[in-house]
Amino acid sequence: MAEKSRGFTSYIGAILAAAGGAVGLGNIWRFPYMLGQNGGGAFLLIYIFFVLFIGIPLMMTEFIIGRRGESNVIGSYRNLSKGNKGWITLGIFSIVCALMIYAFYSVVAGWTLNYLILACRNQLNGLSTEEVAQTFNTFTQGSFYPVLFQFLFIAITGGVVAMGVQKGIEKFSKILIPILFILLLLMCVRSLSLKGASEGLKFVFNPDFSKITGKSLLDALGQSFFSLSLGIGAMITYGSYIRKGDNLFKSSLWVAICDLGVAILASIVIFPAVFALGMNPADGPKLVYIVLPNVFNNMPMGNIFAIVFFILLNIATLTSTMSLLEILVSTAVEELHWKRGTASILASILVFGMGIFCTLSFGPLKDVTIGGKNIFDIFDLITASYLMPIGALLMTIFLGWFYPKTEVRAELSNDGKRKVRAFEIYHFILRYMAPIALIVILISGFFK
Ligand code: TRP
Repeated sequence: MAEKSRGFTSYIGAILAAAGGAVGLGNIWRFPYMLGQNGGGAFLLIYIFFVLFIGIPLMMTEFIIGRRGESNVIGSYRNLSKGNKGWITLGIFSIVCALMIYAFYSVVAGWTLNYLILACRNQLNGLSTEEVAQTFNTFTQGSFYPVLFQFLFIAITGGVVAMGVQKGIEKFSKILIPILFILLLLMCVRSLSLKGASEGLKFVFNPDFSKITGKSLLDALGQSFFSLSLGIGAMITYGSYIRKGDNLFKSSLWVAICDLGVAILASIVIFPAVFALGMNPADGPKLVYIVLPNVFNNMPMGNIFAIVFFILLNIATLTSTMSLLEILVSTAVEELHWKRGTASILASILVFGMGIFCTLSFGPLKDVTIGGKNIFDIFDLITASYLMPIGALLMTIFLGWFYPKTEVRAELSNDGKRKVRAFEIYHFILRYMAPIALIVILISGFFK
């Protein structure tokens, strides 16, 4: 059986691997600061709405393309479009996006690894508020250390991916994702037991719709894409590894539940602590690296919780970088016939080569800017605000308009073996709702 040797060995393995790809810095670092900047509870509700009605259908779309196409991003489009050059180009476009996302994502991955080591060596403990900020600035604005940690993170990811889909990606995800949940729950208990924690809970769960603007809607939709790893074929690649008999709707639902669960739990860890210790919830990207270390410094046994927190952040990040690298490696292995080990090394070197510029854009290259944005910001902006929605839009056009509806139904129902009750609803979202929502985000993105 071809799919046996090529892909994941079990249903739970597939879900945990895809959940690992989805759960990442986006959930623990980006989501809480977006929530903080957009007023809390109301943003959460809008976010949940987008995950349910746009995110899950789009994840199903990627899974269908991958499992029906039985190949990497380029190969899947080729197989399903019978060699149409336009759609193959869309596969190539996905590869370029994956490279760019991985390049800037690996910068923050490097910070995360550095912070784990700082926490383990007890070097964050006992610092004043200014010193915590200074530690972050000195580190990120340097050149040697941030590049070194970025390199290490890319190398670890490359090592896991080189071990293969089953022995690397699936096995690591199966072990690491449950650990991540346990650590996260532990952190929740700690945070909720702080005096004054209820203010933070109110912030996360009490919706105040007066804070919602057009920008909040866009932020919520963009965040749901980034968090669920949609638009560039990560889920096409993993979808191609899902066993033929597994239920694609349920798999997508579980992955989305894990992803949403981690985002909410991370907010329950962060905001009660931030409020209890009188910090500012709207502090933006600094929240995890500057605000939290201060929070840990002010709580009993804070250094232990700092270690736990940065372990879980590293786990989340690693399973995501694995999914980014796998997009590239699966393509190199199947299209260029490279060995998996060689492909992992060469793809990692390429990413590192691009990623260095993103890292140095906080230090020596900080004056290289376009419209006030450094290289890192430009990579982030171009991918998250434009390329991912464009990729997703083209995917919905491919599966909703180009690829026969009967075939879509066949794949979702496992060739008729499973009833798909809400197929018409799914197909309606695929054909109309999702593309329209995507066009709206894209157009408003241009006027931002
Ligand atoms: N979803 C991950 C996060 O939330 C990031 C990520 C991993 C990603 N693979 C991706 C984003 C593919 C877009 C596409 O951190």
